Amino acid sequence: MTLRPSRSLRDDLALGGRITAMRLGGLALALRGDPVARLMHKPWRYDPYPTYAAVRGEGLARSRVGLSAVGTHALCEQVLRDRRFGVRLADGRPPFAPEDAESSLLEPVDLSLLGMDPPDHTRLRRLAAPTFTPKRLERYRTVAEEITGRLLDDAAARGRFDLVRDLAAPLPITVIARLLAIPSVDADRFARWGRALATALDGVRSVAHAHELSRTTAEARELFTDLVDRRRADPGEDVVSQLVGALDAGQMSLDELVSLAQLLLVAGFETTTNLVGNAVRALQATPGQWEALVADPSLAGGAVEETLRYDPPVQLTARIAHEDTELAGVPFRRNWGVLVLVAAAGRDPAAHPDPDRFDLHRVPTTPHLAFSGGAHYCLGAALARLEGEVALRMLAERVPGLRRAGRVVPKTATILRGPRTFPVAA
Ligand code: HEM
Repeated sequence: MTLRPSRSLRDDLALGGRITAMRLGGLALALRGDPVARLMHKPWRYDPYPTYAAVRGEGLARSRVGLSAVGTHALCEQVLRDRRFGVRLADGRPPFAPEDAESSLLEPVDLSLLGMDPPDHTRLRRLAAPTFTPKRLERYRTVAEEITGRLLDDAAARGRFDLVRDLAAPLPITVIARLLAIPSVDADRFARWGRALATALDGVRSVAHAHELSRTTAEARELFTDLVDRRRADPGEDVVSQLVGALDAGQMSLDELVSLAQLLLVAGFETTTNLVGNAVRALQATPGQWEALVADPSLAGGAVEETLRYDPPVQLTARIAHEDTELAGVPFRRNWGVLVLVAAAGRDPAAHPDPDRFDLHRVPTTPHLAFSGGAHYCLGAALARLEGEVALRMLAERVPGLRRAGRVVPKTATILRGPRTFPVAA
């Protein structure tokens, strides 16, 4: 009798083989100096800034990985704003079309707006945007201050604490839980999912990772579907309550609302955690900067903007050409993909004088692209700025003697950059 592997086992084996082949192929290219492959592989991805400089120098950096990359401020901004570029293939299919179970596992998380092109993107964004105006988000300032105060009291009382575990991670997760009115009983699960789903942005690493993402996304969708029912019955001031009207009016589907809620968790959690982590890291590593903030905590907003330029939480995004065009003076074909290295744009000397110097007093000459640009400009930018400003200001006020107290361990991601652990002493 011959034993035939089951369909799901066959899919897993095929996926495992595909991931391993992609990884080994990428590593070989990275060793040969391919810039895009280097961004995805150790050790280069721990310090991507030399690779970014190389990409800027090339204009349009071609890669054998199958994607090109741009890194100057001008080219990044051009691609982000150009309506001939989108996030799907020209015919509207997602980049990894789920034709078979194996490739659907490669893209297990529906990223809502981030994965949509017009007209669906325009429709959904119009419905969601009014709930994210700076004025509406300003009401979360008191929430952010309350949480930060409580977290800092607990952490500072211990003398030593971990900046990420004890402040930078719980702050945004609590704010998003409030934004979506997640009951406190679910908050721990919510944080676990947020961490797991954020890893989807960098792509699937292994078969086990693909299954973890599928499981997490199924669980999260169950909670969000339940949340929609609860808010329908008992509306509040939260984002879901505000969008239920559009759902009932047939302007968006339940699936779209659930995916949008999930996107808020993915987009608003690790990003803001990294903002606080990268800011404190740069302030501590650059002589005189932490002391300047302690002397004048109202500089916290400037420190947030400088971090977004100097070492942004989201380092890059990607676009696909929807028609044959030209980029940096060379032909660029329909359905070709390009990485838009917004972190490289922040260090472009043509846009920012003395770009490798972190300076919280900097008066920007060009706006940074850390929140992207064009149609997908970050919907939560005002909230991220608010949380970052509160965290840095209150840290400087309440823990003025803060100093690094151990090795800062980086996360092993390409797109989201920030510390995984950051031991500090009060
Ligand atoms: C420092 C923190 C943050 C950074 C650096 C950041 C960065 C970004 C970037 C770069 C994009 C666009 C990606 C692209 O063009 O492909 C984006 C989109 C988005 N962000 Fe943020 N984000 C942050 C915080 C937040 C927060 C707190 C929320 C909400 C709670 C949020 C919600 C969104 C949403 C909904 C989108 C999708 C917009 C669209 O596709 O139309 N983000 N963010």
